[in-house]
Amino acid sequence: MKYPFYTVVANDFTAVDQLIIGSLSSRVPLVEEISGYLIEAGGKRLRPLLVLLAANACNYKASKHINLAAIIEFLHTAMLLHDDVVDESDLRRGRKTVNAAWGNPASVLVGDFLHSRAFEMMVEIGNMRVMEILSRATNTIAEGEVQQLGNIRNPDTTEANYLQVIARKTAMLFEAASHSGAVLANASEAEEKALQGYGLHLGLAFQLIDDILDYEGTTADLGKNVGDDFAEGKVTLPLIIAMRNGDDGQRAFIRDAILSGDISEMAQLLSIVKATGGLQYTSDMARAEVDKAINCLASLPSSKYTQAMQNLAEFAVARRY
Ligand code: IPE
Ligand code: IPE
Ligand code: MG
Ligand code: MG
Ligand code: MG
Repeated sequence: MKYPFYTVVANDFTAVDQLIIGSLSSRVPLVEEISGYLIEAGGKRLRPLLVLLAANACNYKASKHINLAAIIEFLHTAMLLHDDVVDESDLRRGRKTVNAAWGNPASVLVGDFLHSRAFEMMVEIGNMRVMEILSRATNTIAEGEVQQLGNIRNPDTTEANYLQVIARKTAMLFEAASHSGAVLANASEAEEKALQGYGLHLGLAFQLIDDILDYEGTTADLGKNVGDDFAEGKVTLPLIIAMRNGDDGQRAFIRDAILSGDISEMAQLLSIVKATGGLQYTSDMARAEVDKAINCLASLPSSKYTQAMQNLAEFAVARRY
């Protein structure tokens, strides 16, 4: 954790890690083996970090934010287990995905285990508003994933539809993390709104960059395969913009490539996406979302935690992994 936005909550962060590992116990050894395999591979732990920063920024003095942070990471991990089945991905966090190593049924079922463990732990927190935020978030994420499924190999997917999908499938959990952190800390309504907005815009920027990295990133940096989105027929913003800005020939090429998913066309597709400004447009939008996220912080009392949130937002656009 070399970034300073982790170090301001370093003690809390260690406690979250311990709680995560300690909460994986199961009467069924395979559950522990598989969930430990993915969780111990690490990941950036950005969503639990958001909980910790939000709660601390609102001057929270008790310890339930540790539980809340672990819960959010479990929800995220459960989603990844399902996501890799749906996306037929075979690399995650630099390791074989659970579906590649143990098969789809194991990935789906252990995902269910982590999801339900998260809800058990939520009941222990005993805060109805936190329950409300997290249950609404998981429900919205599921809708976003299904909405995205409906857009597969549809070259006519609109920018508005794409933005709705990423708000639901990704930004929702970022938003829920910072919002629930504020609620747990009994923040004022203005502070709650500020942190909710911060999480939403950060999450949008985060997925926009994820979609760029699927074209431009490297497997070594990301720990997951690049080019998966195109191979799966996912029409993300770089493609939508390339079709909008390209000439008739380029547009026809992209449409055919989306319909066929022929990975051998990836190099030419990438050069068109670059030449037509598809990647630039997407990265400009990510920058704009990060600026909105940072603006939300202005309504909070300035502290080392709000500073860390600002740095985290900058990381979200600059990241290569
Ligand atoms: C991956 O999230 C899923 C997306 C929303 C793009 P992360 O990139 O935060 O995954 P980990 O937890 O660091 O592996
Ligand atoms: C992830 O979207 C959103 C989730 C709900 C997990 P992606 O499918 O783009 O995430 P990666 O690229 O596999 O991490
Ligand atoms: Mg995926
Ligand atoms: Mg996916
Ligand atoms: Mg992705």
